Amino acid sequence: RIAGPSGIVIFGVTGDLSRKKLMPAIYDLANRGLLPPGFALVGFARRDWANEDFAQVVHDSVRQYARTPFSEEVWRHLAEGFRFVSGTFNDDDAFDALAATLADLDRVRGTGGNHAFYFSIPPGAFPTVLQQLRRSGMADPHGDEWRRVVIEKPFGHDLESAQDLNQLVNEVFPAESVFRIDHYLGKETVQNLLALRFANQLYEPIWNSNYVDHVQITMAEDIGVGGRAGYYDGIGAARDVIQNHLIQLLALTAMEEPVSFSPKELRTEKIKVLSAVRLPPDLSQASARGQYATGWQGGTKVPGYLEEDGISPTSTTETYAAIKLLVDTRRWAGVPFYLRTGKRLGKRVTEIAIIFKRAPHLPFSQNDTETLGSNALVIRVQPDEGVTIRFGSKVPGPVMEVRDVNMDFSYGQSFTEASPEAYERLILDVLLGEPSLFPQDEEVELSWKILDPLEKHWERSNVQPDAYVSGTWGPASADDMMTRDGRTWRRP
Ligand code: BG6
Repeated sequence: RIAGPSGIVIFGVTGDLSRKKLMPAIYDLANRGLLPPGFALVGFARRDWANEDFAQVVHDSVRQYARTPFSEEVWRHLAEGFRFVSGTFNDDDAFDALAATLADLDRVRGTGGNHAFYFSIPPGAFPTVLQQLRRSGMADPHGDEWRRVVIEKPFGHDLESAQDLNQLVNEVFPAESVFRIDHYLGKETVQNLLALRFANQLYEPIWNSNYVDHVQITMAEDIGVGGRAGYYDGIGAARDVIQNHLIQLLALTAMEEPVSFSPKELRTEKIKVLSAVRLPPDLSQASARGQYATGWQGGTKVPGYLEEDGISPTSTTETYAAIKLLVDTRRWAGVPFYLRTGKRLGKRVTEIAIIFKRAPHLPFSQNDTETLGSNALVIRVQPDEGVTIRFGSKVPGPVMEVRDVNMDFSYGQSFTEASPEAYERLILDVLLGEPSLFPQDEEVELSWKILDPLEKHWERSNVQPDAYVSGTWGPASADDMMTRDGRTWRRP
């Protein structure tokens, strides 16, 4: 579907996210013919830029990060709809100028009074910007126009702040006009989880505690904190990605089949399963926290977290977190879900691994089964997108020797179409008013409810996270956590 006439205003347009993800995604959408001729992009920031300066910045970002080839014709038409408004969030005049710019674009560009306001700004700035949008009338559509707000994480830093934020946003925008970004939900491989589970007869009968031993959800990154010290320090790995991306992956893995794929039915199932998720009682046994120390990655020596620019040398922020969660439903009774994430790990990989129980009886001699692990179904979210099934197979030869082998589905081999970037899909859905891939307030609050006790526990124990060498797979305490349960982490 092609979006209708509309404009996007980006607050925080000079930031990294905007340059690396939003601008290229908008160009790619235009290049794929998914944006209407009447589309406009308005940047709002403190810089003293003219429209041309802004267009140049978008141009550079597109040339560097866009997925689709550069087309002069597409670019020229798109760039005619670019505007830049300079100002601070406290500046009434700047917001009045923004309102005038949008009204002008409605006239000259034909954006139809349909405006999305993209908050790529710290949550501390939300109240002011929301209030400005209300004061200047930009939050109020007339007739069939729409006004939407798009919110980037962090969505609060605990349950209470998330509730406050939800309330604040809902005072200005009705719930159906609020689009909270969790870019993992925009990934093809994440959406495919639902196809894998509910379009097939093969998996669902064994997708439960009768057959599944445990689930491991891994989001490993090789990069460090990079230029994001200001955001990351004090937030940490659990708040940065477990609260949102990993808990969303858990919800899609563990939820029941929705009655339909309507946004309402999907949400109903996600909320149901998230309400059933809990931390085990002994949090010190069910979690691990680490911080990267100096080490080697890709042949280069990298600094430890405490030596990174902008990080306090006494910071207790974790760059690695592992937790064990339980899902109190009939389907998942007794099946732990282990979630882990970290920066500066062995390699960049995100996957969901369903590890099955062992066969109840193995009619082979001990020797033959030593090389046999548990069956596993691995959804490879990125970067090598696909699905792997691991099972035992006879090694060719005169004896009955059984060994693990992999059966692979690879996006690259099965589909000629390249997957769109997550932000492309999400921005398009905002313009289409399609809310399925955006977590609602209740989901966000439930995930904080899961995480809050753990954050409090870590705060109370106030210990330095366990150091791990950059380029390894995290602190020993994370391995110990699994060993206590008689299990091991996968090496993706
Ligand atoms: C973001 C986190 O949400 O996801 C970052 O804030 C992280 O810390 C990023 O690097 C990873 O995204 P992706 O799509 O590269 O896995």
